[in-house]
Amino acid sequence: MAYKSFKLPEDLLMGSATAATHIEGGQQQHNWYRWSEQGKIQDGSHCKVACDHINHIKSDVKLLKKINTETYRMGLEWSRIEPEEGKFSAEGIAIYRKEIKLLLKSGIRPLVTLWHFSNPLWMEDDGGWVNPKCVNRYLNYVRYVIDQLGDLVTDWVTINEPNVYLFFGYFEGRWPPGYQGNIRYYLKGANHFAKAHLKAYDQIHEQLESKGQPKEEIHVGVAHHLRIFDLFDKRHLTRFAAYISSHLFQWMYLEAMTRGRFTFPLRFYNRQFPRKNYADFIGINYYSRDLVKGVYKPGTLFNELHVKKGKAVNDLGWEIYPKGLYRIAKVVYRMYKIPIWITENGISDAKDTKRAKFIYNHLRFLNKAIKKGIEIQRYYHWSTMDNFEWQEGVTPRFGLYHNNYETQERTLRESGKFYAEICKKKKISRKMIREYLMKK
Ligand code: BGC
Repeated sequence: MAYKSFKLPEDLLMGSATAATHIEGGQQQHNWYRWSEQGKIQDGSHCKVACDHINHIKSDVKLLKKINTETYRMGLEWSRIEPEEGKFSAEGIAIYRKEIKLLLKSGIRPLVTLWHFSNPLWMEDDGGWVNPKCVNRYLNYVRYVIDQLGDLVTDWVTINEPNVYLFFGYFEGRWPPGYQGNIRYYLKGANHFAKAHLKAYDQIHEQLESKGQPKEEIHVGVAHHLRIFDLFDKRHLTRFAAYISSHLFQWMYLEAMTRGRFTFPLRFYNRQFPRKNYADFIGINYYSRDLVKGVYKPGTLFNELHVKKGKAVNDLGWEIYPKGLYRIAKVVYRMYKIPIWITENGISDAKDTKRAKFIYNHLRFLNKAIKKGIEIQRYYHWSTMDNFEWQEGVTPRFGLYHNNYETQERTLRESGKFYAEICKKKKISRKMIREYLMKK
């Protein structure tokens, strides 16, 4: 394919993303620590190590600056902030306050994720997100965080990818708490996540506004994992399976968390929320597409997921499908007319032979979307550095920076240099194409 130079809008905010458990290391009071202790991480690695970011905060902020990051999506570790229910740690929150101040001093705007797959053990062991108490527990934690950090941060992701967490933790069983095929818990959890977000949305706004933050400068939203589900064949069963997969895995969450509209089957749980927008932006984490094939298999969602034949894949076997970013953004924008932030988009590519091209192609489609009037305001590349990738451990390599886990030395990849230039210049020039995309 021929590469063409293009310009990105000057006001598109560009950055990179990580999350607490992915990079911090150290913290022992959460579900992923225990899962690692139990030897359940595929490559035998342990989240207590990760990128040891907790001891590298200053130098990691410098790395962000070096790649011209305008905004950085970071996460908080709930168990570090509230190690026991109702008892908040001044020491824990101080770490984040210091980090955020460093970011601001470096001219980097923080987008802070309040929950990204990890639960304090006190909460996990009392039913986690299946116990209705989780909603108030989450809201208390959020209240404390906003109280402590709300003078510094206006941009918040309340919850990251509830669908992925519930699918792996309650349906597939590869993530803590390790349930298999428990559709009842899956739906209960989805209902609680939706409630938690809807209430947090109002609560965060109230708190920040009472601290004097202007309403229009406050941004609260969810980071949704959205995929393309295309049909493997044209059979009715396949169409049914594709509908079920995309509804139960994504659209039902989007409707509930954006508008308080609880569609089937969540409708049976909740009707109490007034219809309005509960999002100042819609976060899209986009990675790949699946081809759905309908199968008669009791106990499943009647689907089998396939990769389109002959298509390029990343190191984890996920299809690289840049057009999907455009397709998803188009549908979401048509549904809600709320600004979109691409809160994650990236590739596991240890040899770094595909990442530059991945970035180029996804940004090209992002640009096309913007030109068609879809309001995409931010793009966060996943991830700043290689990190602890949940069940897969440290084997997948998503980073703009390579990480050496023995020495914790980070080295900027060639594709990272490409991305850094894009962030700085807001364009992909012919020179950059020659240098990063056409070199052997
Ligand atoms: C998650 C990240 C994860 C990434 C790549 C997203 O689903 O939010 O935590 O690292 O995908 O697998």
